[in-house]
Amino acid sequence: MNLIKSLEWRYATKVFDNKKIIDPVLVDKIKQGFNLSASSYGLQPVKLILLKNKKIQNELLSISMNQKQVLDASHLAIFCINVNIDSDYIQDYFKRIKKIRKTEESILSSYRNNLISTFSEMSQIDIELWATKQAYLAMGNLLAVCADLKVDACPMEGFDSLAYDEYFKLNKKGLKSVLIMPMGYRSSQDILSKMKKVRKPISESIINIE
Ligand SMILES: Cc1cc2nc3c(=O)[nH]c(=O)nc-3n(C[C@H](O)[C@H](O)[C@H](O)COP(=O)(O)O)c2cc1C
Repeated sequence: MNLIKSLEWRYATKVFDNKKIIDPVLVDKIKQGFNLSASSYGLQPVKLILLKNKKIQNELLSISMNQKQVLDASHLAIFCINVNIDSDYIQDYFKRIKKIRKTEESILSSYRNNLISTFSEMSQIDIELWATKQAYLAMGNLLAVCADLKVDACPMEGFDSLAYDEYFKLNKKGLKSVLIMPMGYRSSQDILSKMKKVRKPISESIINIE
């Protein structure tokens, strides 16, 4: 299946088949797909909680606007942002570059100093906004990965992020939840799975300049 066909096949799944579980081989691919998402400067300020636990999924239902996908899906992905993009965080990134690419310190030092100074001048609100944008990008990427694997998913903003933060004690981990995405397999009862996609004509959504 090519990617465009997969994107036509996918839809924001409202009713999941609660008996179908994603094969661990595909779960590994989903993890790889998430980790391969592009991010601003390559700083990867997004951490994914990958949940497969019906008891916890059930407890999350009431803080997810009672959207049953959260309970019925095989897995629930919770996209969290790192809120502390400080000097230590940035230094770790450059250590990783050095280790993986064997890049010389002389090439990296001014870039590292620039990044540390850029982030030290940003307000906490701006850092979190910046990180949240990276989470949206990662979610978009993961939607495409899921579609390619023929795994159904539902991108979701409709949940109480503060209550999730409290539930998972994310504050202690320097994280905040920003998006969730149940993943699994569509139920035959989901009437939306049979409906046509609603999109603007391409001529309305794209301005061609040649
Ligand atoms: C950022 C974002 C948040 C969304 N939040 C929800 C949600 O909380 N619940 C839900 O059922 N669908 C949610 N959706 C799904 C959209 O309604 C859906 O993607 C849109 O109607 C287009 O339909 P399609 O994805 O099936 O093509 C969300 C989509 C995005 C991109």
